[in-house]
Amino acid sequence: MRIMIVNDYEEMSKKAAHIIASQIVLKPNSILGFATGSTPINTYKELINLYKNGVIDFSEVTSFNLDEYFELSKDNPQSYDYFMKANLFNHINIDDDRINIPNGMTDNIERECAEYEKKMKEAGGIDLQLLGIGRNGHIGFNEPADHFQSDTHLVQLDDDTIEANSRFFDSVDEVPTKAISMGIGSIMRAKKILLFASGTGKAEAIYDTVKGPITPRVPASILQLHPDVVIIADKEAASRL
Ligand code: F6R
Repeated sequence: MRIMIVNDYEEMSKKAAHIIASQIVLKPNSILGFATGSTPINTYKELINLYKNGVIDFSEVTSFNLDEYFELSKDNPQSYDYFMKANLFNHINIDDDRINIPNGMTDNIERECAEYEKKMKEAGGIDLQLLGIGRNGHIGFNEPADHFQSDTHLVQLDDDTIEANSRFFDSVDEVPTKAISMGIGSIMRAKKILLFASGTGKAEAIYDTVKGPITPRVPASILQLHPDVVIIADKEAASRL
């Protein structure tokens, strides 16, 4: 694991965008794994700037998102499909056919998950996976559990996650309780992983990820076993290291 400690959210976002941009420059047909939530918003803004300034070109890039809420349609502003379009895809030249996000409205969960895994494999695997981290140490929506769940699957969200994500909804009752998420195996198969975190709310999760035992109780701790992980944490998120 390589840990980069930066001053604040802005610096974290610039560094993350530059790492993603260099991946695209080195391999224009990269397979990128994207995340949603608050952490990536300015990273995506910076990527849009780099695209508009002619530094990067997304025309050959393929993307796979980590997760999507279950039973939330694409046109719901809280869906991750909607989030990705609003915060990144609508502003760059990525080909619609190369965008992959689990379909939360599927009527066949097992088939949807198996097909998502198959598509990732057929694309050649993810070159660079971007990860935020939950306050409880989750990555994707792999919540603390008794064992690591390998492939894309349906997840029951933790109360802590539902509470954390309620800030995007009118009330906590509106937050979906389930999601489709890449599994720990799907994430660990990525060739490179970039995890980023900002703010004191993430300090304990970052400490446990980097210095704690490898345990499914802290899903991100498995990243200690991955050969190519960069963590960018701002001073607050790194405050317990
Ligand atoms: C989002 C995802 C989640 C978030 C995590 C942190 O696609 O998979 O693991 O990365 O919950 O969310 P924020 O960035 O909102 O603190």
